[in-house]
Amino acid sequence: MARIRHKIAILSGKGGVGKTTVAVNVAVALAEEGFRVALLDLDLHGPNIPRMLGIEEGPSVQEGMIVPAKYGPNMVVLSIGMLVDQDQAVAWRGPLKHSAIQQFLSDTAWGEQDFMIFDLPPGTGDEALSLMQLVKLDGVVLVTTPQRVALDDVMRAVHFTEEMGQQVLGFVNNMAYTICPHCGGRIDIFGKDSSNVLSELLGLECLATIPLEPKLAEFLDTGKNAIMHMRGSEVEKAFRQLVASLISRLGGEGK
Ligand SMILES: Nc1ncnc2c1ncn2[C@@H]1O[C@H](COP(=O)(O)OP(=O)(O)O)[C@@H](O)[C@H]1O
Ligand SMILES: [Mg+2]
Repeated sequence: MARIRHKIAILSGKGGVGKTTVAVNVAVALAEEGFRVALLDLDLHGPNIPRMLGIEEGPSVQEGMIVPAKYGPNMVVLSIGMLVDQDQAVAWRGPLKHSAIQQFLSDTAWGEQDFMIFDLPPGTGDEALSLMQLVKLDGVVLVTTPQRVALDDVMRAVHFTEEMGQQVLGFVNNMAYTICPHCGGRIDIFGKDSSNVLSELLGLECLATIPLEPKLAEFLDTGKNAIMHMRGSEVEKAFRQLVASLISRLGGEGK
């Protein structure tokens, strides 16, 4: 872990708000910008990264070390979904998860990296707890949708992160608005100013506002990310904006 400069975890209060979507697109955008990136899927019960990246090969094992799968010239990826069948469930208790996560961190040939992005399951369970006990993160990115009902869960995740001695870098307001496919107009599903409202309520910086884009879900289901396959789109721009905000939060340099 000492050879990885920046470590960022993606967390949320709820499931289905877009953590894995954010993790995948941030990792690919960073890699495209020339950073060396590792993406580690810590959603042990719902590993979605292999499908979203269209990775079919498994990691290999060399000299007792796990060798993560390569994705493009400067990104490596590891997910439990590459080690067990996609449709097979893992039934593990906390201690077993803890040792699996420990192994992913220390028995994997990660090499030298500028960034490691950790994708987590929803909420503040075993996986987030183990990660935050084992690794000093640069910070946590919280993903939320703009409904007020999501806020209690987000606050719980904020307090959990702080109790673990880690910092929250800011939040991502996902599925905040959509673009009308007919007239191209912007539809603010949860009010016009949802990012500012959330920012005030949470006391956190909004790192990016991402539109709801049906094509994004369809593309990710078939292994196509927004960065490489939706160039020029609002979603691509929003993920690039997120990467720029992150780099600036980390002091303006990633390398
Ligand atoms: N901005 C968005 N627009 C459209 N679909 C999205 C968006 N963000 C996420 N999705 C879709 O919503 C579903 C849940 O997202 P996911 O990233 O798996 O959430 P989580 O990891 O938080 O459970 C996925 O099918 C994903 O493609
Ligand atoms: Mg997920």
